[in-house]
Amino acid sequence: MLNIGEFCKDIVYAGVDDHTSKKFEGLWALPDGVSYNSYLIKDDKNVLVDTVELEFAPELLTTLREQLQGKSLDYLVINHMEPDHSGSIPAIMEAYPEVKLVGNKQTVGMIKGFYGIDCPERTIEVADGQTICLGRKSLCFYLTPMVHWPETMMTYCPEAGLLFSGDAFGTFGALNGNILDAQCDKDLYFREMYRYYACIVAKYNKFVQRALQKLGALRLEYIAPTHGPVWHTHLREAVDLVERLSRAQYEDGVTIIYGSMYGNTAAVAARIAETLAALGMTNVKVHDASYTDMSFLIADAYRYKNLIVGAPTYSMSLFPPVKMLMDAMVTREVRGKNFASFGSFTWSPVTKKYLEEYASQLGWNIKGAVEFKQGPNQNTLDAAEALADSFVD
Ligand code: FEO
Repeated sequence: MLNIGEFCKDIVYAGVDDHTSKKFEGLWALPDGVSYNSYLIKDDKNVLVDTVELEFAPELLTTLREQLQGKSLDYLVINHMEPDHSGSIPAIMEAYPEVKLVGNKQTVGMIKGFYGIDCPERTIEVADGQTICLGRKSLCFYLTPMVHWPETMMTYCPEAGLLFSGDAFGTFGALNGNILDAQCDKDLYFREMYRYYACIVAKYNKFVQRALQKLGALRLEYIAPTHGPVWHTHLREAVDLVERLSRAQYEDGVTIIYGSMYGNTAAVAARIAETLAALGMTNVKVHDASYTDMSFLIADAYRYKNLIVGAPTYSMSLFPPVKMLMDAMVTREVRGKNFASFGSFTWSPVTKKYLEEYASQLGWNIKGAVEFKQGPNQNTLDAAEALADSFVD
C-alpha cells in the first residue's frame, strides 16, 4: 500500500506498509503488519531520510517521482543500515544519479558491506552534531550508536522541531493510510510498542538512555521513527513510555508462560493464575509457549515485574518451546525479574534445575518452584497456591 502525505510543512511521508510479511526479522509475528517509514523533505535541496525494504523500492520510487516532479533528489540521509530501511539505497542511487548519501563513518562501511557500494564522490560522511543547510530548513545529525545498531544516528530538523529517530520510538503495525498518531488507532501502536521495544531495542537500554539524555534538550514537535506513526499529539506519552522501558521500570503484574504436552503443567499454570486473581492481583497474563508467537511472550515477560515459567521435562531436557523462549530471553537480556518455575516430570526432574540456571544467568530473583511427578495431586496444587501467594504483596 502506498502512503503519501505531507504531515508537516514541506515534509512528506514516503514510506510503505507491509501487510504480507508474516515475521519481522524472520522472528517476530506481524499480525497487524508493519510500516517502513521514509520521509521526503522538499526544500532548495531535496532530501530523503531513510529508504524502505528492498521489495518496496518501486513504491518508494513512484512516490518520489510524483513528489519531486522532475526536480533533483540531492541527499539521502541514512540513519540506520538494517536492510528494512537501507534495502532501497541501490535503487535510489540508480534512479537519482545526482543524489549524495549522508551517513557517519560506520554507515559508509556498511553501505559497502551490504551493497558493494564504494563511491566516495557520492558520499558525505558526517560527524556528531554536524549540520547541513537545505535552504529554509536544516538538518543536524546526532550519533546514537546501538539504538539499534552501531551506526545508528538520528537527524533533527530544528525549524520543524522534528526528530527522525530511526528505530527509537518505533512500533509494529501498518499505518493503513494514516501517518500522524492522532489519526491512527493509537492504542494498537502503544500496545505494540511494548512488543517492539522488548524484542528489538531493550537489550540496548543503556544506549537508549544515553540517546534520550543527549537529545533531551531539543524542541520536539514531531518524532518520525522508521516504523509506526509519527508522534505529534501523543509525543510526550511515547517519550515517557520509551523512557520507562529503557529504565526497566516494570509494571505490576505477573506473566505466566508454560509449555504442556498432556495438560498436567497447564493445570498448574491455571491454578497459579486463579490464585493470583483470587488474591487481587491484576495484570495476570498467561501464555502457552507452544501456540503463542515468542514475541508476545517476551513482550509480557519484559513488561511486568513478575515472571513464572512452567515446562514439563522432555527427553531429560527442557520442553523445546520453553527452552527456545528462555534462550531468546538470554539473547534479549530480559533482566530484573521476580521469578518462579513449575513443571511436571515422569521419571527425570530437570525443569527446576534448567529454568533456575537461566534465571541465575539473567540475575532474576528466584522466589520458588513447584516440581511434581506425573500428574498434579492436592499437594502440588497447594504448593502452586503457596507459590502464587508469594507474588502478592
Ligand atoms: Fe527497523 Fe533496526 O531496523
